[in-house]
Amino acid sequence: MSNDLFTVPEDWRKNAWCDDARYQKMYEESVNDPDAFWTREAQRIDWFEPFSKVKNSSFNGDVDIKWFLDGKLNVAYNCLDRHLENRGDQTAIIFEGNEPGVEEKITYRQLYERVCRFSNVLKSCGVKKGDRVSIYLPMIPQLAVAMLACARIGAIHSIVFAGFSPDALANRITDAECTILITADEGLRGPKAIGLKEAADEAMDKAGMVKKCIVVKHTGADVPMKAGRDVWWHDLTAKESTECPPEHMDSEDPLFILYTSGSTGTPKGVLHTTGGYIVYTSLTHQYVFDYHDGDIYWCTADIGWVTGHSYIIYGPLANGAVTIMFEGIPNYPDFSRFWQICDKHQVNIFYTAPTVVRALMQQGDEPVKATSRKSVRLLGTVGEPINPEAWLWYYRVVGEERCPIVDTWWQTETGGIMITPLPGATDLKPGSATRPFFGIQPALIDKEGNQLDGPGEGYLVMLDSWPALARTVYGDHRRFKSTYFIQCPGTYFSGDGARRDEDGYYWITGRIDDVINVSGHRLGTAEIESSLVAHPAVSEAAVVGFPHDIKGQAIYAYVTLSSGFEPSEELRKELSLFVRKDIGPIATPEVLQFTDSLPKTRSGKIMRRILRKVACNELDNLGDTSTLADPAVVEALIKNRIDAC
Ligand code: WT7
Repeated sequence: MSNDLFTVPEDWRKNAWCDDARYQKMYEESVNDPDAFWTREAQRIDWFEPFSKVKNSSFNGDVDIKWFLDGKLNVAYNCLDRHLENRGDQTAIIFEGNEPGVEEKITYRQLYERVCRFSNVLKSCGVKKGDRVSIYLPMIPQLAVAMLACARIGAIHSIVFAGFSPDALANRITDAECTILITADEGLRGPKAIGLKEAADEAMDKAGMVKKCIVVKHTGADVPMKAGRDVWWHDLTAKESTECPPEHMDSEDPLFILYTSGSTGTPKGVLHTTGGYIVYTSLTHQYVFDYHDGDIYWCTADIGWVTGHSYIIYGPLANGAVTIMFEGIPNYPDFSRFWQICDKHQVNIFYTAPTVVRALMQQGDEPVKATSRKSVRLLGTVGEPINPEAWLWYYRVVGEERCPIVDTWWQTETGGIMITPLPGATDLKPGSATRPFFGIQPALIDKEGNQLDGPGEGYLVMLDSWPALARTVYGDHRRFKSTYFIQCPGTYFSGDGARRDEDGYYWITGRIDDVINVSGHRLGTAEIESSLVAHPAVSEAAVVGFPHDIKGQAIYAYVTLSSGFEPSEELRKELSLFVRKDIGPIATPEVLQFTDSLPKTRSGKIMRRILRKVACNELDNLGDTSTLADPAVVEALIKNRIDAC
């Protein structure tokens, strides 16, 4: 890991919401006097009726988590209505289409009117408070409208990433018992059109319960419409009024369900509620991204993931921000697209995933340097540990050593950012998510369940609740308890490992199920991968453990090479030696397989479960492969696997 320190630039210290002294003061208050802290911070939200108590939560027994008790509010009202007076004509959403040149700027007033209209559509379809609505849309404005309309009338949205298969959609519809599905004719991803309605039809055949399917005409493709069930979005909205009173929701009324996979079983429907979620996403969006009025903010995630929920829509809109929704992909029409968009819309804050940074880095500096990026002030990452190599490239080439990088650690279950630098307050170390956000009390636990003091490495847990924590797994509270609260009783178990250094900085080492134990030594796969990708020949690397007679477990490394490099026995040896030198003999890969690509989910997460099975030669039991972006990758992996078991 890198020990370089990047200190807070003077102008950031002066102009940011928070410098280090203020961070310390606010953090201490947030954990020592949470009532005072959260009572004050909750005032950023408009409440129809004030809350009577800040929190009432227990991680023991039945695990009951409540925030801002008895408060009444509406999330859509907070994202729209309350901004109308002062920023009705300000842009809320900049939609940037898949094709360069396609764009739309939507003001707060226009968004308000569209949301009200669609709220009335939902009501006329019989949707009531508490009903679940399934949404399967590409990154187009109607997605934002649909989710805010659900929030407005108190319906619970369940957004399914538009890259998921019909099967995955069907399972989610069934699990959440959705009778309404909102989709589009097609989605666009670079040069490809994705048949969403076709997939939705297949899903609805499987999950028989959908009564109404509302279809957005996006590409204009000819799609079958089933009489009595399928209706066009534009037909329904045309006749509805642009006024719709917001439902008065209790703080603890559900806002949305979002499915996420764990190490076992089918995906879990993580349930988030209203008051705590919106207070926390709004607060984190302001401080982590140092959002100031008028800033142009762009998070490149898809709204189908929690990052998009919290940091494209809810947090930014609650803060009256200008938020960009991008429909396309980073390499269409070419690898400069992201930076061209930054220039075109004068983006100030840019938030993306390490996998994207690495993919762009692989193309060299030219596509970046062909653009200006002078408007960009702050960079962010989320989703996985970022290797120092990629961090430094992002910092030097993209940010021209001018922009701090906020490496934000959090999870679908946490609702919002948990461990992160604050750009005006935190000195940065490449690869470290640094320090806890206000109100967050991380701790490290060893295998015996003891809490570690000072520097050390262990399981990352949270000692107390925070406003945006998930409240349950939809329909399965027992699973909620057993996934997060029994491993280390009285704490929230994140499933990640982490190291804390002498400065109290956290370094996420990866999922605990990815930890490899070689001859009694524990190694984070992220650490070995980071080492491998630091070699100029390596573009991406994934490391898993496999059973070894003598060492217990040994390391199997999958490596994709940068352009200009070819696999060879020599290079294989060189890379092993490189890791051995970098981390220590214990980290030397036992097996190193070159591969053209790694198996990834459509959100870009490497599917290690599959890599582990291939490494362990458990080929007839690969498990669920329905979330793979490209199934052909697995065949190639198996064909070229190296037998070492
Ligand atoms: C897992 C959660 C939070 C939105 C996107 C992912 C990993 C996330 C970081 C980071 C190291 C990270 C963790 C976590 N992760 N951010 N900054 N550094 N690891 O949400 O799909 O729920 O995944 O992503 O392993 O547990 P998710």
